[in-house]
Amino acid sequence: MKDFKGKVAVVTGGASGIGLAVAKALGAKGAKLVLADIEKSALDGAAAALNNAGIETIGVVTNVADRASVEALADATWKRFGACNIVMHNAGVAVFGATQDMTHNDWRWSIDVNLWGPVHGVEAFLPRMLKEGQDGHMVFTASFAGIVPNRALGPYNVTKAGVVALAESLHKDLRGTPIGASVLCPMRVKTNIDNSTRNRPEELGGPAAAHPYEDADSGNLQGRTLTADETAQLVLNGILANRLYLHTHKEARPFFEGRARKIAEAFDAAL
Ligand SMILES: NC(=O)c1ccc[n+]([C@@H]2O[C@H](COP(=O)([O-])OP(=O)(O)OC[C@H]3O[C@@H](n4cnc5c(N)ncnc54)[C@H](O)[C@@H]3O)[C@@H](O)[C@H]2O)c1
Repeated sequence: MKDFKGKVAVVTGGASGIGLAVAKALGAKGAKLVLADIEKSALDGAAAALNNAGIETIGVVTNVADRASVEALADATWKRFGACNIVMHNAGVAVFGATQDMTHNDWRWSIDVNLWGPVHGVEAFLPRMLKEGQDGHMVFTASFAGIVPNRALGPYNVTKAGVVALAESLHKDLRGTPIGASVLCPMRVKTNIDNSTRNRPEELGGPAAAHPYEDADSGNLQGRTLTADETAQLVLNGILANRLYLHTHKEARPFFEGRARKIAEAFDAAL
């Protein structure tokens, strides 16, 4: 993809944080926007602000955990704009606490949103995009936790590793098509993620199901706290370059190298 002018971009989790910042940055470069989010009040506010800024935007209330809801999002996108070029599979939630303390509903909610969400997005958008043959891009928001697991974030680590694998798979399988794939792997970015239980459905425990948790010593694995806007610029550049891994924090590199080294050294004991 050479530029964003006139392109149609869908961003899930687009009412807040990284998603909203990427949407704004794409809009500033001439893209038309579809913001998808489960939180209606924040979504309405974000869509209105973007329209007031002269960026053509619709907001579609969407639960990415629900396949039919994501199919309806795709329908709404083509109905309004007649095309789709960029999908950022970004909606995500985090449950904090020791892996051994996680309840079945903690796993369910994390996997439903963080992993099924992007899978539903691929199912709903990619076949139509491929059929239309326009330049396109799928961006997945994973996390550095999907590359090196962090303490006290078990279900999150598992889902984000899955998202990294999904993007890597597509990056390979989409070769020779006009559609690229990237995966964003940030350490800390200043957003509302720590308060994600606000959107936890009642049937999976609701907001009250959060674990009492003290941020023990995952410190180094969090890195600096970046802004969502600087993260967004990196995403836009990554789309234009069709770069697979979008790393935000240089300080994350030694942790990846440490993990890779341990995995490689374990081959010393292989048959
Ligand atoms: N902030 C960080 O430090 C950080 C680091 C690494 C990865 N991430 C990832 O970035 C992504 C964006 O999160 P953020 O940090 O901007 O947090 P955020 O809470 O500010 O934004 C997430 C958005 O997703 C929406 N959402 C939650 N559940 C949803 C659902 N079922 N369907 C549709 N929308 C839903 C929320 O309403 C919210 O608007 C997430 O995937 C998160 O895991 C964040």
